[in-house]
Amino acid sequence: MAGKITLTMIKPGAFRKGHTGPILNMIKEAGFRIIAMKLTKLSTKQAEEFYAIHRSKPFYNSLVDFMSSGPIIAAVLEKESAVDDYRQLIGATNPENAEEGTIRKKYAESLEMNAVHGSDSDENANLEADFFFAKSERTDCM
Ligand code: CMP
Repeated sequence: MAGKITLTMIKPGAFRKGHTGPILNMIKEAGFRIIAMKLTKLSTKQAEEFYAIHRSKPFYNSLVDFMSSGPIIAAVLEKESAVDDYRQLIGATNPENAEEGTIRKKYAESLEMNAVHGSDSDENANLEADFFFAKSERTDCM
């Protein structure tokens, strides 16, 4: 499985604004297969844990507050070169720098409220998939 999955979250802002359907459609049209998906809400503790790598950053507390402010969609996506291809589909972290036609260019509100998360490496993709999903919730493991 190495290199074939990535983990995405549709963040609270994009979910609240009703962008879930269009974003999932872009994911499908780009050739990703959804092998696990759930509607959930992160607790403060879960958001702190998910973004622990950013603990020392000035935006950490605000990011945690935002990410635990409402429902999200978490999904594991499968495709060859899933991590790189998905990062291309979503665009730059800061939507001001995102290319036209990318998910963040279309649906992000700001750097913090940037519509979606995408894993930054194969190693993190596997850790992040395990954060949200038991093996029994992944169709590739059934
Ligand atoms: P994401 O891909 O989910 O990974 C970490 C998140 O931190 C990132 O998207 C942004 O939402 C947020 N982030 C990164 N840099 C900044 C910043 N300078 N100010 C505010 N939020 C940031």
